[in-house]
Amino acid sequence: MTAILEVQKLRTRFKTDYGKVAVVDGVDFSIKEGETLGVVGESGCGKSVTSLSIMRLLAGNGSSEGHIFYEGKDLLQISEKQMQKIRGNDIAMIFQEPMTSLNPLQTVGRQIEESVLLHRKSSKAEAKKRAIEMLKAVGMPRPDEIYGEYPHQLSGGMRQRVMIAMAMSCEPKLIIADEPTTALDVTIQAQILELMQKVKEETNTSIMLITHDLGVVAEMCDRVIVMYAGQVVEEADKYELFENPKHPYTIGLMNSVPDLDEEVEFLETIPGSVPLAHQMPTGCRFAPRCSKAMPICHEQEPELFKLQDQQCRCWLYAEGV
Ligand SMILES: Nc1ncnc2c1ncn2[C@@H]1O[C@H](COP(=O)(O)OP(=O)(O)OP(=O)(O)O)[C@@H](O)[C@H]1O
Ligand SMILES: [Mg+2]
Repeated sequence: MTAILEVQKLRTRFKTDYGKVAVVDGVDFSIKEGETLGVVGESGCGKSVTSLSIMRLLAGNGSSEGHIFYEGKDLLQISEKQMQKIRGNDIAMIFQEPMTSLNPLQTVGRQIEESVLLHRKSSKAEAKKRAIEMLKAVGMPRPDEIYGEYPHQLSGGMRQRVMIAMAMSCEPKLIIADEPTTALDVTIQAQILELMQKVKEETNTSIMLITHDLGVVAEMCDRVIVMYAGQVVEEADKYELFENPKHPYTIGLMNSVPDLDEEVEFLETIPGSVPLAHQMPTGCRFAPRCSKAMPICHEQEPELFKLQDQQCRCWLYAEGV
């Protein structure tokens, strides 16, 4: 399988009161065609910033270095105009809270229509037809009526479906979904995930799925990257990751998953907290919290060591396994 997206040495920094701080610091990963890549890690580790860096939608005080190759083009090098073509057309993003990305003053039908018109050559009538088709495809009841309704008239689950319909309407090759179901209740969440899965199977779309929920990872993903303090600390096939986690942080994450199928914040079992971006420890960033830490861990930063089936940023695996 060829990679549709290849992120290399991505470093994203923000200007802050502490100076310029790197909140994403040397991130490498790729997404293959038709693959769902999960991105996990506790709050603040840089998942959203990574996705916003790919879309070039960072806040004004942020900037990225490194490479983000999409179909041979480095997204960090192309013009804003070229990037606009790629957003929505090739790469679409679904956010956690759809209300912030839907226009409250415009009917949902018009918004989908506009996204169709922006990216495809089609007549208004065709765009409208497509908008209604998309609403139907995402399982909206009464799509003809919903077409004329405003975002505030819809429930959270319905708004998220509208976002997905918008994202899908241009048949993107890659969807970046940042906690797409976190704000929804469990049944709606299951429906939305099922819908994304269906769309993916029908169109061979690749998905980068950011989530706090390891249950969602188990359900949806092929491969997973685990992030900690702005870096990838482990990368593995989903089954490998669940059955044989390597990095002590990943092991901690796995242990903090309860047996019951309920949502629980990460890391109840890992003491301490994530270091702040302007106060990164020397050596391994996880070492201050790690029960397996050795002297070298406090001195020298480990690279992402390549193991047989996974990669792991931990000195325990420096010699391979
Ligand atoms: N515009 C900004 N200026 C300064 N710092 C920022 C900015 N945006 C994000 N950050 C910081 O970057 C770090 C990573 O944030 P990010 O939103 O990517 O975390 P996350 O992994 O998505 O967390 P969550 O799981 O809570 O969504 C955080 O420490 C955050 O405070
Ligand atoms: Mg986030």
